[in-house]
Amino acid sequence: MKKNSEYLLSKKQAQQKIVALTCYDYPTALLEEQAGVDMLFVGDSVGTNILGYQDETEVTMDDIVHHLKAVRRGVRQSYILADLPYGSYETPQQALDNARILLSHGADGIKLEGVREEVVKYLIEHNVEVCGHLGLLPQTQQKKAVQGKKFEQAKELILGAAILEKLGIFMLVLELIPEELGQIITDNSGVPTIGIGSGRFTDGQVLIVNDILGITPYKLRLAKKYQDYQTLSLDTITKYREEVEQKVFPAEDNVRHMAQDELQQLMAWVDNGHGDTETGGQ
Ligand code: KIV
Repeated sequence: MKKNSEYLLSKKQAQQKIVALTCYDYPTALLEEQAGVDMLFVGDSVGTNILGYQDETEVTMDDIVHHLKAVRRGVRQSYILADLPYGSYETPQQALDNARILLSHGADGIKLEGVREEVVKYLIEHNVEVCGHLGLLPQTQQKKAVQGKKFEQAKELILGAAILEKLGIFMLVLELIPEELGQIITDNSGVPTIGIGSGRFTDGQVLIVNDILGITPYKLRLAKKYQDYQTLSLDTITKYREEVEQKVFPAEDNVRHMAQDELQQLMAWVDNGHGDTETGGQ
């Protein structure tokens, strides 16, 4: 069954948690879907996690499209949410043009940061499923500080969430806000909230796949490292290098042989000088 926006809303209504994870490539998409992840985010976190960029502002539409197409090839049921990257939704028309590009390459919906009323309204009027994103906004705030800890800012976030819901968003991502605020926004929201570093009470959770696999070199409080792929990968690559250098790999198991009669024929041909390129052997 396709996990569409109605299905995701029904999970909120049934008080079942929505499980989301970022995804940037085909093999990981296959695994995430097989593991039952509801939503795959092709987020602009691809920039710092995969492409070696300094921050999210370097991510382009071409980057998102490239990774989105790979993820799409691996997914049948999970909802694919793609980010409109920095600078791609300056005007309502630009946002719609770019959202249509993402939809044409396999996104089910798009996400954009902040309370961009005109843009959100225009997209929804044109039948684009829009996910809002409040709290820490990586496209404009590179400092990873918790948002909404003080009354005034918390109030602003609650009001922002209400405005976005009224405009018709189907979902809201809450990034790095206090758990209490995450709960208040969630309890007052008719659409599912997905938290990242925003406590236990949002309708769902999303994390960066690199962080849960332990590919990320640092430890983040908001995430949980379920594996240590960095160590595992480094050990594996180092072992491969050592085995090639020590002539342990390839071993007999890894090679193919010619049949004896074919080999003898070939050796005779080489011995007769036909393998000598300088004489133009034929
Ligand atoms: O860029 C991204 O992947 C995101 C999610 C982590 C929320 O915005």
